[in-house]
Amino acid sequence: MDASSDARTNAIWRDLLAWYDAHARALPWRAPPGAPAPDPYRVWLSEVMLQQTTVAAVKDYFAAFTARWPAIHDLAAAGDEAVMAAWAGLGYYARARNLLACAREVAARGGQFPDTEEELRALPGLGAYTAAAVAAIAFGRRAVVVDANVERVVARLFAIGEALPGARTAIREKADAITPDVRSGDFAQAMMDLGATICTSRSPRCLLCPLSAHCEARAMGEPDRFPVKAPKKAKPARRGQAYWIEREERVWLVRRPGKGMLGGMRALPDDGWSARADGCGEGPLAGPWESAGKVTHTFTHFGLDLHLAVYLGADWTRLPPGEGEWWPLDRLGEAGLPTLFAKAAQLALADTGD
Ligand code: ADE
Repeated sequence: MDASSDARTNAIWRDLLAWYDAHARALPWRAPPGAPAPDPYRVWLSEVMLQQTTVAAVKDYFAAFTARWPAIHDLAAAGDEAVMAAWAGLGYYARARNLLACAREVAARGGQFPDTEEELRALPGLGAYTAAAVAAIAFGRRAVVVDANVERVVARLFAIGEALPGARTAIREKADAITPDVRSGDFAQAMMDLGATICTSRSPRCLLCPLSAHCEARAMGEPDRFPVKAPKKAKPARRGQAYWIEREERVWLVRRPGKGMLGGMRALPDDGWSARADGCGEGPLAGPWESAGKVTHTFTHFGLDLHLAVYLGADWTRLPPGEGEWWPLDRLGEAGLPTLFAKAAQLALADTGD
């Protein structure tokens, strides 16, 4: 790198850290700017929760998990079902399965997280982003931490004209170039905070931005043109059917198979819809059924119309006993239903007037 680009990159990280010293968000998993690193367990837990999920949505879950399982050994000793139920509503349930697998692996090795990006990357559920974030924030290791917020900040700073996802290589190179050897955790989180609060995707607040003097997109007068995005593909629309079977103030709930969509979560029985195919329309009982309408839900790769049928019959003997349980309606909130099925349950209860 030549001397002038060196001077520019140094000015970028210095200005950013000075801004962070004054404006860092106080978040429950964070140490204040300049303070010693927080407990790696809390950093790891927060970063897994924050994958594809907003800070606002994560805060309550983080508080509940750390109150119930304050350290890695506590989480490692928890039952699968308790953890899956506590995760209900956060989405992307493979994260919860990997979270437990990771906790158990780290606990089995004595409870210490490894402190390099490479070793962290080998743990269940830690992709490139999370391994880099934990290495930087919990262990002060220099690491290039790029999430969607950082991607936006960097694409604008350097007016990267290539469209995502192809632009990721160029964005990563530039992010690497501006990452300092000092205060790694603060730098990573400062970039995230800047993206979340100032360099927002719509109407960025350039007048308040500590990096505006360095920003090529701002100099061009059109910061929100970056990052350039490839046109979105329409998501396939899937149809499925769920079944509400009620008996004496209880509802029949099943547990979904371990892997796949909403794997391991408690659920209403359904007709086998998936990301790739509609359901087959067959229910667990012969009927009669009455339609209670539908709920819609958007997953990462498809949209789902989930139709709900309410059982009107009185022959429950065909329900396979090992494959479900009668769950009391007055404790439905504790069943840990993922949002899709919580919406369907709400519809059924509104419909039946319970
Ligand atoms: N998003 C992901 N990790 C974050 C963090 N540590 N602080 C703020 N936003 C984040």
